[in-house]
Amino acid sequence: MSRLDDYEFYEQRTAAKYEKRDRKIQRKPTKLTHRQQDMEHQIKNEIADTQGLETGFKPTYQPSRYEAGWLLSSLTAFYDQQLITDVLALVKGGKEASVYCCRAHPSVGTELVAAKVYRPRMFRQLRNDKMYQEGRQILTDQGRAAKETDHRLMRAVNKKTNYGAQVSHQSWLLHEFVTLKTLFNVGAAVPQPHAVAENAILMSYYGEPINPAPLLSELKLEAEEAQPLFDEVIRNIDLMLQHEMIHGDLSAYNILYWEGEITFIDFPQVSNLHSNSNARFILQRDIERVCEYFSKQGVDSEPLDILDQMWSKYAYPKDPIEWE
Ligand SMILES: Nc1ncnc2c1ncn2[C@@H]1O[C@H](COP(=O)(O)OP(=O)(O)OP(=O)(O)O)[C@@H](O)[C@H]1O
Ligand SMILES: [Mg+2]
Repeated sequence: MSRLDDYEFYEQRTAAKYEKRDRKIQRKPTKLTHRQQDMEHQIKNEIADTQGLETGFKPTYQPSRYEAGWLLSSLTAFYDQQLITDVLALVKGGKEASVYCCRAHPSVGTELVAAKVYRPRMFRQLRNDKMYQEGRQILTDQGRAAKETDHRLMRAVNKKTNYGAQVSHQSWLLHEFVTLKTLFNVGAAVPQPHAVAENAILMSYYGEPINPAPLLSELKLEAEEAQPLFDEVIRNIDLMLQHEMIHGDLSAYNILYWEGEITFIDFPQVSNLHSNSNARFILQRDIERVCEYFSKQGVDSEPLDILDQMWSKYAYPKDPIEWE
C-alpha cells in the first residue's frame, strides 16, 4: 500500500467512527493489523505535528477530523513559504479535490487566494483515463518532461509501483499547474497560478470570502451580455488550440463568472491537439457543451461549424513537411 492509500484508509475509518458516534451506534471496532496500527499512529502524529505550535499554522477554518490531516499537510508548505497566512473557508469539496479560500500573504499582492487540494483517492482513480493521457509527457520536478530514455522511471510509472504512483501523481498535478501558467502568460481567462505543492495548487481566487464566484451553469445571463461572453469563451478555446491544448472537460460547470467576466477552471484533463488521437472528439464535446449552455441564453451557434473552422486552422502540423 502506498502513503496515499494509508491516508484514504485513515480518512474512511475516522469518518465511519464519527458517523457511528453521531448515530449513537455502538459496534465493536474493526481489528487492525500491526501495519495498519502503525500507519494510523504515524498519521495521528503527523496531524498533531501540523496542528502543533511548531509551524504556527492554525487556520480559522475548522476542518472535519478526517479532513484535517490531509488539508494541513497539503497546505503547510504554502504557509511555510509565506504564500498564505490563513485558510478561511471551504469553497467546494468534491470527490477529487476540495477548493479552499485562503488569506494570501502580503507578498502575493492580493487579499485572497484559492487552494485546490487533491484528495488521496483521486490519485488512484485518476479520472484522466487513457483517452486524455495519450500523447502526454510525464512531468517531473519543476515541470520538466521526463526523458523516454529514463527506463527506471517509465517502468515504475507503467508498472504502477509506489514510486511510479508518486511520479504519476506529481506529473498529473504539474500538468494542471504548467497548463495554468502557460495559459495565464498568453492572456487566457484562467486563474493566475501562484505555487504548486505535493497535493495542492495555489491560484488567484474569484469571489468574496463567504461568497465565491458562481459557476456559469448557475446563472441565467442577460441577453446583452450573453453574446460577448460566448465570444470570450470561443476566444479562449482558440487560444488554447494555438498552444496545442484542448480543455477536455469544458462546460458551464467549469467556467466561473465574476464581475461580468468569465474564467476557465479545472484543467487536469487537458489533452494535446497533435499527439492525442481523440483530439477532435474531445474538442467537439467541449464546443458542443458550451454552445448548449449559450443557446439557452439566447446565443445561436453552429457547434460543428466552429469545430470545422478551428480544426482546419490548428489541427495540422505547424511546420508542414515540404515535399521536394
Ligand atoms: N480560483 C477559484 N476561485 C474561486 N472558486 C474556485 C476557484 N477554482 C475552483 N473554484 C470552485 O471550486 C470548485 C471545484 O473546482 P474544480 O472544478 O477545479 O475542481 P473539481 O474537483 O474538478 O470539481 P468538480 O469535480 O466539481 O468539477 C469549482 O466548481 C468552483 O466552484
Ligand atoms: Mg470542476
